[in-house]
Amino acid sequence: MTTTVLLDCDPGHDDAIALLLALASPEIELLGITTVAGNQTLEKTTANALKILEFAGRTEIPVAAGSARPLVREPFVAAYVHGESGMDGPDLPSPRTAPVPEHAVDFLAARLLGSDRPVTLVPTGPLTNIALLLIRYPEIAGRIERIVLMGGAIAEGNVTPAAEFNIWADPEAAARVFTSGIDVTMIGLDVTHKALFRPADSERLAATGRVGKLVSELFAFYQQFHSQQYGWDGSPVHDAVAVAHVVRPGLVQTAHRGVVVDCGGELSRGRTYVDLWGRAGWEPNAHVGVDIDAQGFVDFLVERLASLG
Ligand code: BDR
Ligand code: CA
Repeated sequence: MTTTVLLDCDPGHDDAIALLLALASPEIELLGITTVAGNQTLEKTTANALKILEFAGRTEIPVAAGSARPLVREPFVAAYVHGESGMDGPDLPSPRTAPVPEHAVDFLAARLLGSDRPVTLVPTGPLTNIALLLIRYPEIAGRIERIVLMGGAIAEGNVTPAAEFNIWADPEAAARVFTSGIDVTMIGLDVTHKALFRPADSERLAATGRVGKLVSELFAFYQQFHSQQYGWDGSPVHDAVAVAHVVRPGLVQTAHRGVVVDCGGELSRGRTYVDLWGRAGWEPNAHVGVDIDAQGFVDFLVERLASLG
């Protein structure tokens, strides 16, 4: 039984690995990729998505570029994590292919309306495109089976003490998604930070082929931030956890809870308040990742990426 998926991303090292995991997973039928500004500018995240598809020999999968900036907030890129290109490390050639001419939001709507099967959206960047989709095509909500997004945190953030990057970057968009009534799963830092991909994993993957080598080169750059900032001997592969949750249910344990996105000022901007213990009595609106089989996830990731050769 395959799951039909649209991946909305901002590659980004972990977005690139998430995309490769989707390509390596026969359980997923990938209808297309949409890009958004986040880890880097839209131009760069779009080029990076094309580069990965070209490297993997999967250029039949269409890429549509979307929003170049958040709904309300000022654009902010995470070059301090992902470098100037947004995917620093490997020396990949400039893309020869191009995105389709449609805007990501129109592309998503067309694919959702045209699909005879329910579609799962997997957003792994700021939620700008998804919010715009729900605003521009309100009838589309009924066509989305569920949204499995990487973003948020029950506990601490990673861009500020309060907030995770994807939600902080465009909180108004995230709030629109969490209040949409659609079945939402939040894969946040509480689970992604538990499942570190370590140098030994990178080494064993590098020996499996050219995709493994590419991922090890991505990891070598990405790890620098996690070792300098956190002192960790490994890196969370945030976005790949969202894809893994779709492909291999059970690796991540979730709890159905009420989540509210803070669209307020500097200190609390982008915080995802989760009514974990039901003290606030909020109606559940998201399946929130609360635990992960960390070794199971890393082994699954390595095994699937290795299968690409
Ligand atoms: C998220 O922010 C980005 O830097 C990563 O690609 C991931 O989607 C983690 O907070
Ligand atoms: Ca991302």
